[in-house]
Parts: sequence; C-alpha cells; structure tokens
Amino acid sequence: MSSRPKIFLTRQLPSESMQLLKSQSELTYNHDDRYLSKEEIIAEIQGVDGLLCLLTDTIDDDVLGANPDLKVVANFAVGFNNIDVAAATARGIPVTNTPGVLTDTTADMAWALLLAAGRRVVEGDRFVRSRQWQGWGPLQFLGGDVTGSTLGLIGFGRIAQAVARRARGFDMKILYWNRTRLSADEESKLGVQYASMDDVLAKSDFVSVHVALNDQTRHLIGPRELSLMKSTASIINTARGPIIDEAAMVDALKNGSIASAGLDVYENEPQLEPELYDLANVVIAPHLGSATIGTRTKMGNMAAENCLAACRGQVPPNLVNP
Ligand code: DGY
Repeated sequence: MSSRPKIFLTRQLPSESMQLLKSQSELTYNHDDRYLSKEEIIAEIQGVDGLLCLLTDTIDDDVLGANPDLKVVANFAVGFNNIDVAAATARGIPVTNTPGVLTDTTADMAWALLLAAGRRVVEGDRFVRSRQWQGWGPLQFLGGDVTGSTLGLIGFGRIAQAVARRARGFDMKILYWNRTRLSADEESKLGVQYASMDDVLAKSDFVSVHVALNDQTRHLIGPRELSLMKSTASIINTARGPIIDEAAMVDALKNGSIASAGLDVYENEPQLEPELYDLANVVIAPHLGSATIGTRTKMGNMAAENCLAACRGQVPPNLVNP
C-alpha cells in the first residue's frame, strides 16, 4: 500500500471531515446527494482499503466479500445495524462507529419531540398557518403537563442518560428499564428508578426509546406494550424505527390508546406507514437526531480517523466487532 490509503466514501461529509480525508488518503466519493445502490457500492469499493459509509447503506456479506483487500468499514453513525458485523468479523474486517459525540445532540432532539408532541406545538403551528386561528381559547390544543410528570426510558445507555439529566430540570420522576441495572449509587446520582419494562410503559407520561436495534429489540414495542401505556401518554423515538411496530403504533394513535408520538426514525426510512402522514397527534422529523453542524463534523472526523487508522494497520479507536 502507498502511504496514502485509498478510501471510498458513500456521500459527502461536512467540509472539515472532507479536508481531513482528502489530506490523508486517496479519497473517492459519491458527489451526488443520493443513496448508492448495493451494486454501486460494490463497484466503487474495488481496489480500496477503506469504506466510509452511512446508516442508510446496507453493508451485507455481498458487499464485504466484494473486495478481498477491504481493511475497514467505518460507519458515520453510532448505530451500526446497517452493517452485518458478524459477517465482517468472520472476514476479519474491523467495523467502527461514532459513539459519544452525538449523545447530547440526540438527547436534545428527543426533548424537542417530547415537548412538541406533549404540548401539541406542531398541531398549533399547522392551525395558525392554515389561517384558522380566531384567537385565544380556553380549550384550544390542551396538552399534558411536562413539568412534574413521569418520564419512562426504554434502554439506559449514554443518550437515555442525557435525556434523564435534562428531565431533572423539569422535576420529572424518571423510570428506566435496561438489560442491566445500574448500581444503587449510580441510580441515586442520576435521580432515576429502575422498573420492569411493563411498569415503565404503564406508569409513564412520556416513554422515550433508547435501545440499539438488533434481533432482540426489533418490535420490542408492539401491540401489547402499547396497550400498557396510559391513554394520555406520548411515545418518543430517536433510536431506530423498527424497535417500535409502526403499524401497531398507528393503530394506538388512531384509537386513542396513546395520546401522541414524537418520531425521528421509522421502520422503512424514508417510507412511513402511510397513515402516519395524516395523523394530527404525531410529530414527524426526518431522522435529525444528530443533525447539527458541530455534531456532524465531530462524527465525520471520528469516522475518518477510524477509517484512516484501520487502513494504516492500527486498531481503530471505535471498533465494534466483538
Ligand atoms: C446514529 O448515529 O446512529 C444516528 O441515528 C445518526 O443521526
């Protein structure tokens, strides 16, 4: 290998990250603002050392096997459910992600959705824009109280903990469910109480989902789980769409068994369950969890450093292979 590794990037990143990659590698990249098909990715990675990809790129064994010299798959995301890590591990290919740098930005987004869904901000916005507003009314767009209510966190990793820290400013009672329970000391420092998943669902006014997507968590929230929630409660998802059974959630929102939803992620992005587009009690964002200039730049630099390190034969800092 020459001293500058060959890297293929599936979409352009923030300019600082592009400069970093261009200065330290022979970079080729997708110049168009669109996803590449699997066939296009396979064609582009011929002869490269590293692949830097996005959460929207499916990196399965066909892709991994298409270039026997591939030294790394570096994902521009903390989630890596788009990559067949087991297949990469079997082929000896390191896979990396971008943990830590998007924690606060994603927690902020969960809060934006929680407040918008709970206080019906987007419904109100649509109402005003449609020129229907005739003035203040005592019964207009009444939502649920956020301050003093109960927040339920499904999963309790970095992002959920950042959501919990913000909730303390709203005097909320905070319940969490996670595969592993924190120590009593950690729970008391964060001001959170552990509960079974059923109890978190049944007792919370806002349920926010924060588990990684894998075979165990696909449709973790289905019809039974939704039926446990309060009819006044909101569900918030900034993690991955398939964790919630989207069709079942639409039914719950339509029949009033839950009050509202604040969603940033969907089962089959960019397609949504058709009825979601028309439900008034849903706030729908286009997967914006980490979408700030600062955070996307940090993610890009981290993904670039991971990719460059592995191409140079070093252990990349954010390896996810077991
Ligand atoms: C991630 O990094 O997994 C996020 O979903 C990107 O916004």
